Amino acid sequence: PAAVIVAIDGPSGTGKSSTSKAVAAQLGLSYLDTGAQYRAITWWMLNNGIDVANAAEIATAAAKPVIVSGTDPSAPTITVDGEDASGPIRTQEVTSKVSAVSAVPEVRALITELQRTIATEAERGIVVEGRDIGTTVLPDADIKIFLTASPEARAARRSGEVKGSDLAATREALIKRDAADSGRKTSPLAKAGDAVEVDTTDLTLAQVIECVVTLVGEKQ
Ligand code: C5P
Repeated sequence: PAAVIVAIDGPSGTGKSSTSKAVAAQLGLSYLDTGAQYRAITWWMLNNGIDVANAAEIATAAAKPVIVSGTDPSAPTITVDGEDASGPIRTQEVTSKVSAVSAVPEVRALITELQRTIATEAERGIVVEGRDIGTTVLPDADIKIFLTASPEARAARRSGEVKGSDLAATREALIKRDAADSGRKTSPLAKAGDAVEVDTTDLTLAQVIECVVTLVGEKQ
């Protein structure tokens, strides 16, 4: 069969990563976490004294770090200049700064090109998760899914992931990040016209995975 391209978009805390990894593993496809790439470039900026409130400074530095994504869904990796960044990209500091960095057009142009190359090279196909995959990065994807969930469900899932986190603060930070991602000028978080929307609020992870696997099966 031809390589199948699956785009999974949506705001944070909707289960995008867990769903995408499981679907890719089940179908024998590669997996790309595009949020990890934006986090990696943000982490590099913070480590290298770039003022992340200054878009011009970000734009100038954007091409410096070499970001490499491993696409095995059972063990996805990300390195920056050869250094494993999988852990450090998940800190609260990176999470709070990533939307400012990802809104810079030069950053998006570079990362989008990287994403398209990775998708083209995946021989059996790939599941790509993010915010603008169906709209901008891979508009010809074979199947596009847009995951949603209530703010309460999303905050509860996120604070379950982050040890010792406060539910109200998590909810607030998440809403703020989604607003920034949806409101930016260059390829904002948005549902593609031909995407299938799945509301995961009252679904278990297993049910979401099954739903996506079925949708992909219908297209193959
Ligand atoms: O998915 P995750 O929460 O790790 O994404 C981190 C951030 O990366 C998002 O809040 C957003 O600013 C940015 N992002 C993006 N476009 C994507 C994926 C992520 O702008 N396709």
